[in-house]
Amino acid sequence: MNKPLDGVQLEEIRDDFPILAQHLHGNKHLVYFDNAATSQKPRQVIDAMNDYYRRYNANVHRGIHALAERATREYELARQRIAKFINAPTPETVIFTRGTTEAINLVAYSWARTNLKPGDEILITWMEHHSNIVPWYQVAAATGAVIKRIDLNADGTLAVPEMNPRTKLVAVTQCSNVLGTINPIRQLADAAHKVGALILVDGAQGIPHLAVDVQALDVDFYAFSGHKMLGPTGSGALYGRRQLLEAMPPFMGGGEMIREVTADGFTCNDLPYKFEAGTPNIAESIGLGAAVDYLQNIGLEKIRQHEKQITGYALDRLQEFVEIKIYGPLDVEKRGGLVSFTFSDIHPHDLATFFDQEGIAVRAGHHCAMPLHKKLNIGATTRASFYLYNTRDEVDVFIAALHNAKKFFGACPTGRALGF
Ligand SMILES: Cc1ncc(COP(=O)(O)O)c(C=O)c1O
Repeated sequence: MNKPLDGVQLEEIRDDFPILAQHLHGNKHLVYFDNAATSQKPRQVIDAMNDYYRRYNANVHRGIHALAERATREYELARQRIAKFINAPTPETVIFTRGTTEAINLVAYSWARTNLKPGDEILITWMEHHSNIVPWYQVAAATGAVIKRIDLNADGTLAVPEMNPRTKLVAVTQCSNVLGTINPIRQLADAAHKVGALILVDGAQGIPHLAVDVQALDVDFYAFSGHKMLGPTGSGALYGRRQLLEAMPPFMGGGEMIREVTADGFTCNDLPYKFEAGTPNIAESIGLGAAVDYLQNIGLEKIRQHEKQITGYALDRLQEFVEIKIYGPLDVEKRGGLVSFTFSDIHPHDLATFFDQEGIAVRAGHHCAMPLHKKLNIGATTRASFYLYNTRDEVDVFIAALHNAKKFFGACPTGRALGF
């Protein structure tokens, strides 16, 4: 069960992703190493969305005709699949959102603004994505709460602190989109709960790659995006502990979130509809349900093993270059399937453009984590991020391109650094 994917399975998986078969810039085979930005979609997901539009397009929870009933059934089935995937106690604790950003903002507006007061502390980390920073800055400005940060160890892992009674919320990423670090969520949840704080987990880079059990992790909120886990853009969800969600006011007002509207007021609908105002992203949520099925059929353990192999191999090969500085832990047990690095004084955007000419898609920049880059004293990094369909051969193509880049840019050594 814990074995990585074998060659035949990998071929079968790659066949499910039509986009991977293409050539770019003439004859360069596409190597897609930008999975942390968004993953590719298998035909099963594309077909599920097409099927909705071709055969049963209708609004959900409104009509009583056959198409509306089928659309509602499929939409709710997707919710049930997702709930099972993360082991949520009931489907009503899974709220569809457009993705991680919206899910975090939902908690910031509905829970934090109504529960926090001046001097309360929101504990985040140096490795958060802007989506898990800016909403808390906004909450701090609105409530007088204070932002604190958990420090980093030298290898890019978290130094889990003792928390204090002023801590009311710990908002932390499960896996860093820059360092790759996988954070000890259960340990953080225990530390938070010990002082009466809640924990919100940004699962954007976690759930595509790691088996998630929100009950075993004992988290209060878990936010994630569908498009990074083989699903469509505009899909995602927030899991929340039922009693918290029930006590929270709605995030947005509109159709579906109400039970009754009178001439001078309204009452709220039950969970999860209280938080799903307006016509939702129906095709996208159904597509996300199909993505969950796809991931489950292969098995998250298998995917993780595969990614560990690819990432370990990439880390080994990258260390052939004395000019390359890798950020984050070098131990694949502590990191997810991505590697961010700098290559001497070559600007990451120049390097990414060079890679593109070789048919290789990577990301360059601050990856929506400017405070982290500032802390590391760098402006930008180049990031290669892997997924279940990537191969060792593709890593070889990537390393060969790096050798070519070295010749092209005439890189000079700045010394090897492991971690930071
Ligand atoms: C760690 C992390 N959090 C949050 C987000 C935001 O996700 P989305 O743009 O899908 O809402 C991302 C996206 O890159 C991410 O990597």
